[in-house]
Amino acid sequence: MENIDNIPSHIAIIMDGNRRWAKKNNLQAAQGHKEGAENLKRLSKFANKLGIKYMTVYAFSTENWKRTEEEVGAIMKLLKFYILDFFKSDDNNIKVKVIGRMEDLPKDLSNEIKKIEEKTKNNTGMTLNIAFNYGGRDEIVRATRNIAQKVKNNEIEIEDINEDLISNNLYTAGQPDPDLLIRTSGEERISNFLPWQISYSEFVFTDKYWPEYSEEDLLESIAIYQKRTRRFGGK
Ligand code: FPP
Repeated sequence: MENIDNIPSHIAIIMDGNRRWAKKNNLQAAQGHKEGAENLKRLSKFANKLGIKYMTVYAFSTENWKRTEEEVGAIMKLLKFYILDFFKSDDNNIKVKVIGRMEDLPKDLSNEIKKIEEKTKNNTGMTLNIAFNYGGRDEIVRATRNIAQKVKNNEIEIEDINEDLISNNLYTAGQPDPDLLIRTSGEERISNFLPWQISYSEFVFTDKYWPEYSEEDLLESIAIYQKRTRRFGGK
């Protein structure tokens, strides 16, 4: 990393390539997800130590239900018994939030999610947003409905609708937008991840599969970000 003063406040990560990593190593897909989950724990702790304030990771999209029941079940179990359990007993001071359509998840899982959010809500370290059953367009539809309801209830005027109001009706309300978006595994697309929030983010793509994307790789991605000049549409 070039410069400790210019570390991004918010990093978004599309953790892609678990199954290809498993295949490359002659393992089952579920094993790839397990290694992916292991890496999420490792890199969250590392990012928190670096002083990153927010990290948002894409763990399960609204489209991922199309995978086999077995694979979907395996990912749900990993979240419940591996990730949430870890942060519950963890003393890294990380605040965990799960963003996405909680109402479609099994009740036992959404209850665990509520518990971990409650338990970590006063932590003062990094906020880790885990996007689970998340879709970016769906998030914007929900925000639009909320806002329309407020207009209908005469709580706000149409003229009050502006960018800040929309931002404040997203799951990431109150958080700065990501400075840096990283996608692993060589794919170079957004896949409905944070479409509103990443309007001005720098994108860094790497060929590494998610389970093998290391602390050094994260430092390298940050260094690439630090060499870029962000203009936000200005000169
Ligand atoms: C992308 O790899 C990964 C996923 C769709 C699942 C993400 C899950 C984890 C990182 C581990 C579990 C973490 C939580 C929070 C449950 P892929 O399966 O699309 O791999 P491929 O692109 O090689 O097919």
